[in-house]
Amino acid sequence: MTTLARCLLFIALSVAVASGSAGGEEPKPYKVVDGYKVDAVTMTGFRTWRAAACDRCHGANQEGMVGPSLVNSLKTLTKEEFVKIVRDGRLDKGMVSFSANKTVMDNMDALYAYLKGRSDGAITRAKVEPMAGGG
Ligand code: HEC
Repeated sequence: MTTLARCLLFIALSVAVASGSAGGEEPKPYKVVDGYKVDAVTMTGFRTWRAAACDRCHGANQEGMVGPSLVNSLKTLTKEEFVKIVRDGRLDKGMVSFSANKTVMDNMDALYAYLKGRSDGAITRAKVEPMAGGG
């Protein structure tokens, strides 16, 4: 093999490896079509949000009132941080603890999925509906 051929072969292999390892995006915890038709898990998250009345402090559109905008917060908070704050609260700062709220504790993943979808801008309005065949 000539040096040139070796060189070309090396480039071809490098490109193949690079494109093969591309991607690796985190899977989304929610599914949504048309901005508001969501899967059953996300629907449960919305119902939990309503049942726990998070909106009385964080606003009906999650954009903040007494409490901060969760649309902004979930851009940087990890899921672990989210779970800890909702469970334990930040009592000195006015965020209540939901550790005694069975609905919230049982549906924490769903609640996160719904709010993450809002924060990502994928769920474009606060009031969601079940997607066809889901919910
Ligand atoms: C009584 C008012 C109140 C209610 C009800 C409430 N929150 Fe909060 N929440 C707050 C306040 C105030 C803060 C800001 C605490 C701070 O400054 O650290 C906060 C902070 C948070 C944070 C952290 C935001 C950040 O950027 O650090 C999350 C997440 C959160 N709340 C989620 C929820 C969820 C989910 C519910 C419903 C299950 C809820 N909250 C209900 C008042 C409330």
